[in-house]
Amino acid sequence: MIEFQNVSIAFNNNHAVLHDLSFKAHFYEKIAILGISGGGKTTLLRLMLGLVQPDSGRIFIDGQDITELSESELRESRMKFSIVFQEGALFDSLNVRENVVFCFREYSNLSQEEIEKKARELLHKLGIEEAIDLMPEELSGGMQRRVAIARALAGCNPKMVLYDEATSGLDPLTADNICSLITDLAKGEPPERTGFIIVTHKVTDAVKVAERFIYLRNGEIAFDGDIGALRNTEDPELRAFTGELHLSEKHL
Ligand SMILES: Nc1ncnc2c1ncn2[C@@H]1O[C@H](COP(=O)(O)OP(=O)(O)OP(=O)(O)O)[C@@H](O)[C@H]1O
Ligand SMILES: [Mg+2]
Repeated sequence: MIEFQNVSIAFNNNHAVLHDLSFKAHFYEKIAILGISGGGKTTLLRLMLGLVQPDSGRIFIDGQDITELSESELRESRMKFSIVFQEGALFDSLNVRENVVFCFREYSNLSQEEIEKKARELLHKLGIEEAIDLMPEELSGGMQRRVAIARALAGCNPKMVLYDEATSGLDPLTADNICSLITDLAKGEPPERTGFIIVTHKVTDAVKVAERFIYLRNGEIAFDGDIGALRNTEDPELRAFTGELHLSEKHL
C-alpha cells in the first residue's frame, strides 16, 4: 500500500508543485497519473521513492513512513518498485546487454549463463533482441525506451512498476506496443498482481492500460476515478484534457 497524507512540496521558494495531496493506492492497482506538463507528476514518483522529501506531510510505503528513513532504509523501500525513468534511462557507456543485466548482477545470485538467458528472453519479449550488442547511442528513441523497460523489469522482483512517460515521443505503433507490454507485465489477479503507475499526458495511452485515473491540477488531485467516471466528467478542463476520448466515442 502507498499512502500520501497531506503532502506538500515546493522548489526554490516557488509556489507549491504539490499541495496538501492525499491518496492511497495498492501495489496491485493499474493507475494512470495525468496532468499538464510541469504539473508535478514526476515529482510525485520521486517522492514515492524518497528521492525528494516533502516540505510537509507523510508518505507511507507498506506501512513504513519513508519521510523518516535513513538512506540505507530508503534503498530497501525503493526495491519494492521498478522504475522506467522519463529521461536518461540508460547507462551510456554500457551496451544493451550490460544495461539490462545490471539489476540481475547487483541483486540476484543467478549464474552468468542464466543472466544471459534472462536478458535475451526479456529483449526478445520487447522485440529488440537483435540490439543486444549495440550501444545506447546507436538505438532509436523507441528502442532505448524498450531497453529501459527491460532493465527496469530485470532481476528485481518489484511489487509495482513505475513508468514515467513510457510512451511519450514514440510513434503510435511503438507506443501501442509498449502499452501491450505494460498490460502483459501486469497480468494476474489482485492482490498478487504486480501493478503499475504510469505517468503520462497521453490520455489515449492511459486508457489502454489503466483502471484508475488520477488527474493533477494546481498541485492537487482534481479527479480520481475509473474510466466511466473519466468519460462522464463534467469538469471543463478535464474534458478538454481528455478531448481525444470524447472524440473517439463520437466516431464509434
Ligand atoms: N529538483 C527540482 N528543482 C527545482 N524545480 C523542480 C525540481 N523538480 C521539479 N521541479 C519543478 O517542479 C515542477 C513540476 O515538475 P515535474 O517534473 O514533477 O512535472 P511533470 O508533471 O512531470 O512534467 P512533464 O509532463 O513535463 O514531465 C516544474 O515546475 C519543475 O520545474
Ligand atoms: Mg515528468
